[in-house]
Amino acid sequence: MRAQVCIIGGGPSGLLLSQLLHLKGVDTIVLERQSREYVLGRIRAGVLEHGFADLMREAQCGERMDREGEIHHGFFIAHDGKLDRVDLARHSGGNSVVVYGQTEVTRDLYAARDRMGGKVVHNAEDVTPHQVDSDAPYVTYRAGDDVVRIDCDFVIGADGFHGVSRKSIPKGVLREYERVYPFGWLGVLSRTKPVSPELIYCKHDRGFALCSLRSQVLSRYYLQVPLTDRVEDWPDHAFWAELKRRLPDAVAAMLVTGPSIEKSIAPLRSFVAEPMRYGRLFLAGDAAHIVPPTGARGLNSAASDIYYLYHALIDHYERGDDSGLDAYSGKALARVWKAQRFSWQLTMMLHRFPDHSDYENRLQATELEYLFSSDKALGSLAENYVGLPF
Ligand code: FAD
Ligand code: PHB
Repeated sequence: MRAQVCIIGGGPSGLLLSQLLHLKGVDTIVLERQSREYVLGRIRAGVLEHGFADLMREAQCGERMDREGEIHHGFFIAHDGKLDRVDLARHSGGNSVVVYGQTEVTRDLYAARDRMGGKVVHNAEDVTPHQVDSDAPYVTYRAGDDVVRIDCDFVIGADGFHGVSRKSIPKGVLREYERVYPFGWLGVLSRTKPVSPELIYCKHDRGFALCSLRSQVLSRYYLQVPLTDRVEDWPDHAFWAELKRRLPDAVAAMLVTGPSIEKSIAPLRSFVAEPMRYGRLFLAGDAAHIVPPTGARGLNSAASDIYYLYHALIDHYERGDDSGLDAYSGKALARVWKAQRFSWQLTMMLHRFPDHSDYENRLQATELEYLFSSDKALGSLAENYVGLPF
């Protein structure tokens, strides 16, 4: 089998690139290890920056997002008994974010790929890139007893943090930077009215909490928990009780609780692999970099990779111009590191660090005091939260 571009991973990065390239006449195949139900069962991102939303529209996948997604012009930070609002629009020159779940983004991308006859292979086992440092790369995968070979011009590694693509780059070529945080986020999705129309990030002595939402009838809440905790340790009643303890009293009094329809723990990690290109293999999204979810940057950083890669591939196919491909890794990483910095800063500002001294705790509180006393500091927060330009 042959495709111009073979994409490993059918998450949002891989599907978005496939869809954008298809609309420009470039032939792609997407190889996904899991079933579609499994991919759509994962509950992850909820906040999309406007650049991501624009890319969805360009991919002709923005219709439902524009109809059902909510535009948010601000969010709250609860700290020291106060509830301060970050006015994104005011501090970022009128920008906003879209609250629309990654699950729905992925569903819309799958629907578009199906509508246009896109090739998406699910349950592809043992996906392996070969000879990516040559002019004739290929990818193999197993479907039952059959081994299928796909010859291609380029291989895109969009297979997430645990994928095979990054691992196929020789150790001596790749440099990895990592920080693992000593806690995770326990997330609950519930069919209840959200406690607030806008997100609330809560810094509390017992640990961080986040009130988010998917719609006005679907809530998403998170609690900072130790890495040793398991989902079984958190029956619904314990989750709601702990969430109430961490929210300001007035907010806790409004909280509507109900049965969880999804509950999972995500460890927090910062990670970057450099470079994001090896020969004809290009990494994109979580395959190359991870951020803690505090700044809502992960999926949005994946989108900027896809933007650069899409334009670089189109320049290659339409004009024989490889300058975009050559610049890809450097350009993508420059933006990735800014998202790393922002996510790290917000994580450090809002979480409880078990090994911090009183001195560090006072500094942390001062960060927030400074933030809400300075329009310049709020401007910096807002421009990063809505997304730096691609
Ligand atoms: P993935 O979504 O991981 O997709 C990769 C795909 O590759 C998967 O479907 C996987 O099954 C497949 N795969 C893996 N290995 C192989 C293989 N060997 N062969 C074939 N296929 C393979 N980001 C934001 O921007 N905003 C937010 O609000 C936000 N909130 C988050 C909340 C939580 C709790 C978490 C965990 C993450 C959040 N993120 C957020 C981050 C965001 O979810 C990720 O950055 C995003 O999923 C990255 O997309 P991706 O397509 O690059 O990778
Ligand atoms: C979410 O709704 O899942 C969400 C929102 C904001 C974040 C992280 C996760 O920073």
